[in-house]
This record gives sequence, C-alpha cells and structure tokens, in this order.
Amino acid sequence: MITCSAPGKVYLFGEHAVVYGQTAICCAVELRTRVHAEKSDDVQILSVLGNTGFDMDVHPYISHVIRMMCDLADIKGVRLHIESELPVGSGLGSSAAVTVASIYALNHLYDCGLSLDEVAKAAHVIERKVQGSASPTDTYVSTMGGVVMVPQRRKISLLKCPIIIGNTNRFSSTKELVGNVADLRNEFPSVIDPILSNIGQMSKLAEELVTKHDYLTLGKLMNVNQGLLDAIGVGSFELSSLVYAARNSGAISAKITGAGGGGCMFALAEDEEVFQVAKSIEDVGGEAIITKNTREGVRMESFNG
Ligand code: PMV
Repeated sequence: MITCSAPGKVYLFGEHAVVYGQTAICCAVELRTRVHAEKSDDVQILSVLGNTGFDMDVHPYISHVIRMMCDLADIKGVRLHIESELPVGSGLGSSAAVTVASIYALNHLYDCGLSLDEVAKAAHVIERKVQGSASPTDTYVSTMGGVVMVPQRRKISLLKCPIIIGNTNRFSSTKELVGNVADLRNEFPSVIDPILSNIGQMSKLAEELVTKHDYLTLGKLMNVNQGLLDAIGVGSFELSSLVYAARNSGAISAKITGAGGGGCMFALAEDEEVFQVAKSIEDVGGEAIITKNTREGVRMESFNG
C-alpha cells in the first residue's frame, strides 16, 4: 500500500486576469488530499462521494487517472481510498490535489517513471477533460508546492504569516464565472481590459513585497485586488460578508480565492489575530480553516511493499 498527498492552493493575486495572460501569484496551502492506493483484482474507489468502481460520474478525476495510467502500466485492478482536508469545489484546488496525488501514487505503485513535470502535465490534461477548460495553475502548484508566479512558473519566497480561509459553503462553477467575465469583457472591452491588466500589475509589484515579507503593503494590494474582483462581477454577498468580517477583526487583508461567486475567501493575519479573525468569519456564517502555505507539493507519505 502506498499513501501520497498533494496540497490545495489559494490565489494571492490574479485569478481571472490569468485567463487573459496576466501574471498571478498562487500559493500551495498545508491542506492536503491523501490517496491510499494498493493493487487489487478490480477497481475500487472509496471517498466521501461514495464507494464505486471505475465511475466517470461519481469519481471522474480518479477514473480518468486510472484510464491514463493503464496506458503506461499493466494495471489489472487498484483500490484507491481518498481522504481530503480540502472542501470540494470551493476555489481551493481540491480536484487538482486529488488528481495529482492519484497520478503520483499510481506512478510509484506501478513504477511508471513519470517526472514531476509530467505528473503536473498529465493532471492538467485530466482537469481539462473533466471540466472542459482549466488553467494549468492548480495542477502545477499542487505538484510543485510553494508560492508561484504564473504563467512564468517561478517560485518566490514563502509567506511567514498564517492564512485563514473562510468557506461560504456555496457551490460556484468556475466555468460559469469565467464565462461571465468573458461576457462583460466583450461588452466593455475598454473598461474591463484595464482592470485585468491592473490585477496583473499588482501581482508583479507583489513579488518584491513577498520577498521582503512586507505583509502590510502586500495586504493593501490584496484588498485592491479584491475590489477589482468585485468590479468584474465575481463577488457575492456572502463572500463580502466574510471579507469585511475578517478585515474588521484585525486581518491584514482579505480577498476571494479562485473563481468567486461562492466558494472561499482567505485572510492574512498576524499570529496574535488568527483566532479572532477565524471567529469573526464563523460569526457571520462562514466556516473558518486556519492554515499556512507550504513549500511541499505532492509527496509520498508511506510505501509498504
Ligand atoms: O476556483 P478555481 O480554484 O477553479 O480557480 C479559478 C481560477 C480562474 O482564474 C478564475 C480560472 C482559471 O482557470 O485560471
């Protein structure tokens, strides 16, 4: 039996703008999806979504992984048990994490010899198959870990401050939100393009602030980024409630992560303010998760035999 895990992520800057080639900064977080895999006579996939065999409806990501790995190795059957600290479909990259961790586990279990770059690429192909479209950001960051400038794929310094995630528990569709932004941009290109390019500009300015650990200035920019996400229509009443609750209770900054519309926001805070910020998020109906960034991407946790 082998156990592998891969992290989720938050966007410090640049979601949506990255779709139009602008720079973004994405950061792996220490919330992991673990995959326990062992050889078996048939296919069994066990998760909170249910216990199934090969099943493209209930477990599309893992079923695609198994199908793809069957082209690389002689796989008769396999039993995969998934455990995740990441809420599903909430902008934290849960689908990327389960895909990356599953590929990595089967890669080792069957000695397929894929490099980390190949794992990231294969996971992106699978995300695109399941979702129709997906940027390579989530799968890359989940594979490599760290704080990453995209599309350049350059790792920068880790953040030293904690991250408090607030989940609205409202499902949102990345595809729909990306489509809404595209419609708005088609209607008002001269208004929306400068907003997207301003977001990209913030990511570029932020690189030095992350390196200098200047979180107060970084936080000011993150709050501006949040305002521009609202401007392009990907905010919601619940997200704003969590964002303002976090800021009013002493967070350095707070913004949406991912597609928006629902899903999660996150805040940066000093160590002393963490519990206060988490409580303020819960007080207005959100679910708070205290975490931090991580340099480690996908990894093997154990391998017996
Ligand atoms: O909500 P998520 O984690 O799928 O992030 C979406 C990020 C977007 O920039 C809105 C879309 C993308 O593919 O980059």
